[in-house]
Amino acid sequence: MKKFENKIAVITGGNSGMGYGTAKLLRELGATVVITGRRQEAIDLAAKELDVHAILSDQGKLEDIDHLVSEVTEKFGKVDILFINAGISGTSSIELETPESFDKMINVNFRGVYFTLSKFIPHLNDGASVVLLSSVLASTVSPGLAVYSASKAALNAVMKTAALELAPRKIRVNAISPGAIDTELFGKMGMDKATLAGMTDYLISLTPIGRIGKPKEIGQLVAFLSSDEASFITGSEYTIDGGSTLL
Ligand SMILES: NC(=O)c1ccc[n+]([C@@H]2O[C@H](COP(=O)([O-])OP(=O)(O)OC[C@H]3O[C@@H](n4cnc5c(N)ncnc54)[C@H](OP(=O)(O)O)[C@@H]3O)[C@@H](O)[C@H]2O)c1
Repeated sequence: MKKFENKIAVITGGNSGMGYGTAKLLRELGATVVITGRRQEAIDLAAKELDVHAILSDQGKLEDIDHLVSEVTEKFGKVDILFINAGISGTSSIELETPESFDKMINVNFRGVYFTLSKFIPHLNDGASVVLLSSVLASTVSPGLAVYSASKAALNAVMKTAALELAPRKIRVNAISPGAIDTELFGKMGMDKATLAGMTDYLISLTPIGRIGKPKEIGQLVAFLSSDEASFITGSEYTIDGGSTLL
């Protein structure tokens, strides 16, 4: 019997990057996996490639979160692994930040994470695992990333409160804070190929282990945190960054 046979896993933002890598691994380990995303074509393609289920749902819209929760519970019942991963990035100095781009980032990265967690709580099995995708930027500083950093720091605070509130049901809540991981996130920030390559080299130079991370490595950590081996771990933030925060 596979490790996650008969387990239901929901992963927000599963059509690329870490969500995709994690969906692939959890499926290989036997879980029934549901992924979400904002683009029907992209989630359908990923679902086909991975042999998982796809539900169109924008984490930035409360009505979409409600729809996701009702679809999942109707079709699959209660959830065992909830990986709230979807997030966006963007840069602006504090001086030049606009209310629109501030709201967009906070809406997806914080408000959307919060209400995805909140609305799934009644539909989690006792003993379930919740993992929030944070960032090393929640506790480090980079010019131009104030709102992104704040959105992830806020999420870490919620993670700890949720761990306490849900402990009586043996539901564990943890956060993963990656350093640089090789995903489509940077491309979505509007950089051209040359700038992207330059940034990857720069990020590698800041990483003692000498490379950037792979989406699968995030999946392996989600799988560990959601396994019985981690049954005493809750309220913790796991840094996975090749040592970059040591510098
Ligand atoms: N890559 C890194 O180095 C890094 C480091 C630390 C933390 N993170 C965090 O890791 C998480 C995953 O990012 P990634 O690097 O794997 O990037 P990615 O390849 O862009 O994946 C993000 C996923 O989330 C989806 N998504 C974005 N906004 C959404 C929304 N409003 N509703 C539903 N789905 C949405 C994307 O779908 P679309 O195709 O529709 O955009 C995509 O499937 C994010 O929370 C990010 O902040 C990334």
